[in-house]
Amino acid sequence: MAIKLNDSRLAPFVGKNEVQEMTALVKCAHDLIENKEGAGSDFTGFINLPRDYDREEFEDIKKTAEKIRSDSDVLVVIGIGGSYLGARSAIECVKGIFHNDLNLEDPQIYYVGNNMSADYVNDILALCEGKEVSLNVISKSGTTAEPAIAFRIFRKMLEEKYGKEEAAKRIYCTTDKSRGALRATCEKNGYKTFVIPDDVGGRYSSFTPVGLLPMAVAGMDIDAVMSGAFDAMKDFSVCDLEKNAAYRYAAIRNILYNKGKTIEMYTSYDPRFTSLNEWLKQLYGESEGKDQKGIFPASVVNSTDLHSLGQYIQEGRRDMFESVIHVAKVQNDITIPDDDAESGDGMFFLDSRKLSFVNEKAYQGTVLAHTDGGVPSLSIEMPEINEYEYGYLIYFFEKACAISGYLLGVNPFNQPGVEGYKNNMYALLGKPGYEDLAKELEARIDK
Ligand code: PA5
Repeated sequence: MAIKLNDSRLAPFVGKNEVQEMTALVKCAHDLIENKEGAGSDFTGFINLPRDYDREEFEDIKKTAEKIRSDSDVLVVIGIGGSYLGARSAIECVKGIFHNDLNLEDPQIYYVGNNMSADYVNDILALCEGKEVSLNVISKSGTTAEPAIAFRIFRKMLEEKYGKEEAAKRIYCTTDKSRGALRATCEKNGYKTFVIPDDVGGRYSSFTPVGLLPMAVAGMDIDAVMSGAFDAMKDFSVCDLEKNAAYRYAAIRNILYNKGKTIEMYTSYDPRFTSLNEWLKQLYGESEGKDQKGIFPASVVNSTDLHSLGQYIQEGRRDMFESVIHVAKVQNDITIPDDDAESGDGMFFLDSRKLSFVNEKAYQGTVLAHTDGGVPSLSIEMPEINEYEYGYLIYFFEKACAISGYLLGVNPFNQPGVEGYKNNMYALLGKPGYEDLAKELEARIDK
């Protein structure tokens, strides 16, 4: 069993004929990917990765993960954007958001280098105190400021704790095979390295060592992850809108976008999807938001957010649609006790119900209310959450994103807009070569 797209609730918003009418465009997008003729086609290596991945390196990832699991209480993952969200979303999805506190046989996993908050970094340093620590530094370019700063701080911590030589044995770098500052540092210091393939961009890199090493350290079965991705690769290679759920999803979101639904609300009913939401927002936001176009990806976790954004979704501006990740079976259910204590909440109808049953009714009620309220609502149905299903789901979204980007008429594999803040920040920090920009910015900054 693998995921399915449930678009049956879309009838009031998208006619079956409209999806059919996308056939020729979808075929074009498919051919652009298959023939590597589209914009950014140098970065379509993720398409066949579940079949073509480096088996030798894969075994090395598993061996290295075993070493880290045997000699470390903590793995600090240093990376930003596509260089950490895949791993984090996988681990939290499959192992749960409290895995660090509950799975005491597994190393704790902390993430740094994804922001520049001194307080956040100090908190993680404090969490490492008295623990055996290893680092996994992930940066394809090797020149991203946030992970570079975190690496300096945590390498110093490690060298003070273990000495330079011993620390070097606890530093694992995932980076480009030959380019970039991180590669040079690794070679100089003898750090163990894993390779991010040239033709796989950051946000499409979950099935490379970027995602796989932290997943394996967290105790995930990465063979099952790759097996799910492989089955998805086969299922989503067929250019047929009826049979290929990823292509249908890509077509539907473009139809909705062209009708003014410019916001996509990624929705789930379990907090373990919180980081997956972040991964989705990055994947779709960075891939499609360019050339003054693109669906704005947002997210909610219900029922929590039904008590915050729920009002807006139900009755606010009618410019959004929702994509729900719906899971059929929970990992561990719980029965709601009968109200013997007579708490007086009046909810006798909940006595002895499974909590998953109540959550399911909340889901069913909400998607119908949203449909009635003018919010097109579709579901991506997952039978359960495990490594296989996770691998399948991630590939589904990656393939759909590439097709969707081409349907929109953008290059889904670049991110030129990310340079804007970087250039300004470097100028303001006094980086050589940015002097003129620095002068111009200084004059505009509120004093
Ligand atoms: O998807 C992307 O390409 C980006 O989000 C990158 O992953 C992110 O900017 C980090 O880049 P790097 O791995 O080069 O440090």
